[in-house]
Amino acid sequence: MSLSQALQAACDLHSRLPALRAFAPWPSDLEPAALAPAAIPAQQQVAEFALPGTPETQPLIGTLRTAAGQAHWTQTYTEAEVGAHFLQNYGYFELFGPTGHFRSTQLRGYIAYWGAGLRYDWHSHEAEELYVVLGGGAEFLAEESECWLQAGGTRLHGGWQPHAMNTGAEPVLTYVLWRGAGLAGLPLMGGKRTAAA
Ligand SMILES: [Fe+2]
Repeated sequence: MSLSQALQAACDLHSRLPALRAFAPWPSDLEPAALAPAAIPAQQQVAEFALPGTPETQPLIGTLRTAAGQAHWTQTYTEAEVGAHFLQNYGYFELFGPTGHFRSTQLRGYIAYWGAGLRYDWHSHEAEELYVVLGGGAEFLAEESECWLQAGGTRLHGGWQPHAMNTGAEPVLTYVLWRGAGLAGLPLMGGKRTAAA
């Protein structure tokens, strides 16, 4: 199983979930890139991820379990920002996008994982974002609303809209799309505090 199969599963999910299709068309400029694997502690949790998805999300979970060791895992935040425990139980990789395993300047697609019992503090970024929970669950917070999402649930964040996320007894495996201005940018911690200042 390879990341090419994960990309195909993401494409299939895109065609099956109306929220994804409404967010953006599937990119037409995808080109494979030579991106070496990069390991993080939490990737083994993805390889062993056993929580069920929906009929739509389960195929992507399956490809991610077996391709987790090939991914270029990344952690945006420092230990000073989020603590050592968080960094042991979180990580993401860019499946496709400006710097991903498959290059696109049209759309960015991440796979992101958080272990159980984590508090992902307020942050924001310029790009608009759509979360899809593949398996597990998490509480998604914005200033205007909060909700608990399970497998198949989706959540839209506007550009620079501060948001946060908490996991409970279960981890969460997500597929995240970015579109528009700031596509190649990074999230910044403390968005809500900055906005409130
Ligand atoms: Fe975000």
